Amino acid sequence: MKTLNQVNKTILCDNVNDVLEHYTENLGYRIESIFPADNPREVIVFKGDTRIQLIKEEKIEIETTPPAAQSFVSTELNNKSPWIAGRAGMLYKDLIPDRQSGRLIASHIKIPDGGPVADYVHFHKIRFQMIYIYKGWVKLVYEDQGPPFIMNEGDCVLQPPEIRHQVLECSAGFEAIEISSPAEHITYVDYELTLPTSTLNADRNFNEQSFHLHKENIARWAPWYIDGFEYRDVGLTSPTAGLISVHVGRINSQEEKQLYNQNDNLLFMFVLQGDCILNCNGQENLNTASAVIIPANTNYNLKNCSEKFEVLSVLFYPELFSAK
Ligand SMILES: [Fe+2]
Repeated sequence: MKTLNQVNKTILCDNVNDVLEHYTENLGYRIESIFPADNPREVIVFKGDTRIQLIKEEKIEIETTPPAAQSFVSTELNNKSPWIAGRAGMLYKDLIPDRQSGRLIASHIKIPDGGPVADYVHFHKIRFQMIYIYKGWVKLVYEDQGPPFIMNEGDCVLQPPEIRHQVLECSAGFEAIEISSPAEHITYVDYELTLPTSTLNADRNFNEQSFHLHKENIARWAPWYIDGFEYRDVGLTSPTAGLISVHVGRINSQEEKQLYNQNDNLLFMFVLQGDCILNCNGQENLNTASAVIIPANTNYNLKNCSEKFEVLSVLFYPELFSAK
């Protein structure tokens, strides 16, 4: 159960975004926290000593240690997910609708219009969070990581828990894949800190993790475990202290593929381009921008991959879901 400081007033509303806009644009309130970012149900705003809670439901439960259930999530499920208006003008599509019992969220995020992004210095109470740039570019700034920088298509960043950051600007048609654990987490606004910070500390420890930026244009490709594929390692295993492993794989020959099994680890795949047939609990088509979850100890393979087939692969180790 989330703990809240004392609020002076609680307002129940059908659409939190609309009421929030009224409080910030017309009444001069500022945001303290938002929960969750992809489809806000609770926002705390403040002005002077007055704190007001805008809430969609009367009670919010957060499962911090959800049961160890895993389930196969097919493209059929996530293709039905609607696009929802989330925080700071972003559109969110939920790629893991069942959230694996509250343990994971993977969002396909779009910002249709380019230009400045209405973001603010904020941080997230999470165990793990990464962002992969799918289309276009984005300009961001992170606490203790130097001046603002641009991430391009194929780049990836690990945002360690509670690092302050701000999205500044993006191209038209910007799209990203954001993956976090747990699924529901609070976003806090930090009004005290200004970014960029004057200090540079690239190796800083943020809750046992460190910031990491992967640049696609200098990545090395090597033969992958999937026959006929090569991969680049996004390099998040060490910065997360062994919680996850992220790769981008692409086809380079039509070799016959054997069955694979990720043992005790949970596997998420997002198709960056092309299509194929996933052989796992039956067969189904994977198309561009579709995603699947393959539970631990499940056999699978990818067949009939189209030319230029490319996939983002995230392996979640059991430690990510264990009690901290
Ligand atoms: Fe963020």
